[in-house]
Amino acid sequence: MTRRRRIAVVPGDGIGKEVIAEGVRVLRALDEKHGLGLELVEKDWGADKWIAEGVGLPDGALDDLKENYDAIFFGALGDPRIPDMAHGREILLGMRFGLDLYVNQRPCKVIVEDLCPLKNKGPDDVDFVIMRENTEDLYVSMGGRFKKGTPDEVAIDESMNTYKGVERIVRAAFEYAQKAGRKSVTLADKSNAVRFGGGLWQDVFKEVAADFPDVATQHRFVDVMAMELVSKPEAFDVVVANNLFGDILSDIGAGLVGSLGLAASANLHPGRIGLFEPVHGSAPDIVGQDKANPLATFLTASMMLEFLDAVDVAADLKKAVLDTVADGKVTPDLGGTLKTAEVTDGVLARLA
Ligand code: NAD
Ligand code: IPM
Ligand code: MN
Repeated sequence: MTRRRRIAVVPGDGIGKEVIAEGVRVLRALDEKHGLGLELVEKDWGADKWIAEGVGLPDGALDDLKENYDAIFFGALGDPRIPDMAHGREILLGMRFGLDLYVNQRPCKVIVEDLCPLKNKGPDDVDFVIMRENTEDLYVSMGGRFKKGTPDEVAIDESMNTYKGVERIVRAAFEYAQKAGRKSVTLADKSNAVRFGGGLWQDVFKEVAADFPDVATQHRFVDVMAMELVSKPEAFDVVVANNLFGDILSDIGAGLVGSLGLAASANLHPGRIGLFEPVHGSAPDIVGQDKANPLATFLTASMMLEFLDAVDVAADLKKAVLDTVADGKVTPDLGGTLKTAEVTDGVLARLA
């Protein structure tokens, strides 16, 4: 009997809807060809629902996801009508935190040298994986605004770092490095200025590294790391960082690869449901213009299929994307002239 694989599909807002529609086309085609037992259940969570009903993540949604789904396939959130992104925090951070998906894994590898903005740097040079802590730091909304709207206003966001939270992401980074045959793990922090959280990360990194004697370690202050990523990216292999630094470094990574339209990610907690999303946002500047690059979403779908134990199909999909890029059958962000759906047509033709 075919295994059932139940996926909650959350297109979200803006180009999230456009790229997820293409991702669903690809998943359905792969399901038809390989009998993957995919059951795709669409959720209308996003700005429209927030504005119409005042609902972000509906009551009971997290329990339903935990009990009845294997994965979440997510597009992007962000809508000019909701400038403070309140719905995004409730829905996206709500799932990351509520499902305790503490690993945000973001691979950054150049596909073809021409797309890398650096001189003479190619696939061998830019090939690192960011392991971003995904449940703590400045993202936890601990803080507040005192005397709001007055000249005496005080605004505080606490950067929360727990021993448990730091230990598990650092350990995940070393385990990943070992399993993937990666040479080194680099800790990116700002422990020279941000003493307490930085000190905890430093201590825990050394403690966990001792359990992995065959994996080399490096440390960089995150400011110098930002510089080195664009001057000698070959120095980096697996990078572990807190939530905010991981967010920023992963967009630098996307820039090195050539476009946010190529950057995929997985939000994980071993043994639990995973949330898979392209790194990019809702891109209001190109929405409705058929310019959204769907390839990050396909690479994300490939990560999801691998997670769902459809390893060979995941590899086929990844290869079809890499070949599509190498062939230049791409959207304008990568220098091509194709429309969103035409890129998908090309990928589907390769998969057929
Ligand atoms: P963005 O990632 O949406 O866009 C940044 C730039 O990259 C834009 O010029 C956009 O056109 C381009 N781009 C992004 N994805 C692309 C793709 N697939 N194909 C072609 N070009 C692409 O970041 P932003 O403009 O800072 O944010 C827009 C909204 O998205 C904001 O509301 C932000 O909060 C939200 N956002 C959401 C997520 C998420 O849901 N995971 C991630 C990042 C930003
Ligand atoms: C990302 C995004 C989100 C983040 C925003 C939309 C909250 O930038 O997934 O990288 O900061 O995590
Ligand atoms: Mn981001």
